[in-house]
Amino acid sequence: MRIAVIPGDGIGVETTAEAVKVLRTVADVYGRPIDLEMLPWSAEHFLKTGVTIPADGYAMLREFDSIFIGALGDPRVPDNRHARDILLGTRFELDLYVNYRPVKLLDARLCPLKERSPADVNFVVLRENTEGLYVSVGGRFKAGTEDEVAIQEELNTYKGVHRIIRHAFEFAKATGRRRVCMADKSNAMTQGHALWQRVFRELAPRYPGIEPRHLYIDALVLLMVQNPAQFDVIVTNNLFGDIITDLGAALQGGLGLAASGNLHPGKTSMFEPVHGSAPPLAGKNIANPMGAILSAALMLDYLGWHHEAAAIDAAVQDAVTHNQGTQEIGGALGTRETGDYIAARIRAADTARRDEDARLRAEEERRREEEQRRQQDEAREREEARRREDADARAELPAPDAILTAPDVRPIEPRTEGSVASLEPLTERRRNDHDQT
Ligand code: IPM
Ligand code: MN
Repeated sequence: MRIAVIPGDGIGVETTAEAVKVLRTVADVYGRPIDLEMLPWSAEHFLKTGVTIPADGYAMLREFDSIFIGALGDPRVPDNRHARDILLGTRFELDLYVNYRPVKLLDARLCPLKERSPADVNFVVLRENTEGLYVSVGGRFKAGTEDEVAIQEELNTYKGVHRIIRHAFEFAKATGRRRVCMADKSNAMTQGHALWQRVFRELAPRYPGIEPRHLYIDALVLLMVQNPAQFDVIVTNNLFGDIITDLGAALQGGLGLAASGNLHPGKTSMFEPVHGSAPPLAGKNIANPMGAILSAALMLDYLGWHHEAAAIDAAVQDAVTHNQGTQEIGGALGTRETGDYIAARIRAADTARRDEDARLRAEEERRREEEQRRQQDEAREREEARRREDADARAELPAPDAILTAPDVRPIEPRTEGSVASLEPLTERRRNDHDQT
């Protein structure tokens, strides 16, 4: 498995290091080779070389099985040009049209809502990732003057809207989720979002097992806070998806815990934590690496390494449950120590699994031996019983010598009454026959 790793800027570098640590651990534990290639593209690299992403950068990325990326953003690059080229550029160029963002609460204590448990906060946001307001179509006229006109167009194509809504229904079907909610702002954005309405109405009837629902985006955010348990799958456009997934991250305990994947099903995809580069937190070993680590798990799952992904998820769950995390989620560990704890849990869980396997194998062996012994005992008993019966039978018969030497042994004659009687008339008849000759 060949993975491109772009650590990025700020805390992205630190949280990516922990995701890499965990990926190496899980690959080692499960004996699966993984080749992680570090790519230096970042603000630092841009400031040094003037290159955000090389000319053949996207083509290079397409050659990998997957891409793992940290956060991008640095105050030294105020227009964030490098982030646009590296992150948004890859989303567009590799046509990663699904932004997959699970919102899953791992422990009730992390939820900012009152009396909400993990059962209440467990939904998935599927954000359109290649068009909408992100396409940078528009321009600034008379920029910097009081006559400035700024136009930014929202692009909605039938193909683009259709494939993300279809993916939402297919995803729900494949994962056993029963409700798909499409959120738009079609009451105000009566052109572009009429297309979302049309496509949603067109596709929903093809999925009879799934309950379709439409909400305006403003109503959706209200309900996400009031009662998040009503959501299974939410599908929406690029900008709304960006905004509601920060709210989703808050519901699960903060940006540090949120994971995401930028997917084009069946093709090279890109995984990243939802958090940003957070310059004020950078270099202090305080950022939460769990979002990055969970994104690595999403990546492995997408690549078909389901056991490995589950092992990472379980280790993160363990860390959260036992409060072995960074300060903002109530723990006392640093970024690196959190990564160490999670890696150690993966090894410990594997050791426990092996021990359990060995115990089960030993038990099985013991049972087999016992069964074998039981069968041997039975066979021996049967054999002994047979011998005893033979011996008894022999004891009842006279000894062979006795038969040969017995004085009253005579030739065997017919003894039954009937046979003697029946001989009489025949003798009689013979005699008569004889007389006639
Ligand atoms: C995200 C980020 C990006 C986005 C930024 C960095 C352009 O906020 O991945 O959610 O808006 O998509
Ligand atoms: Mn965002």
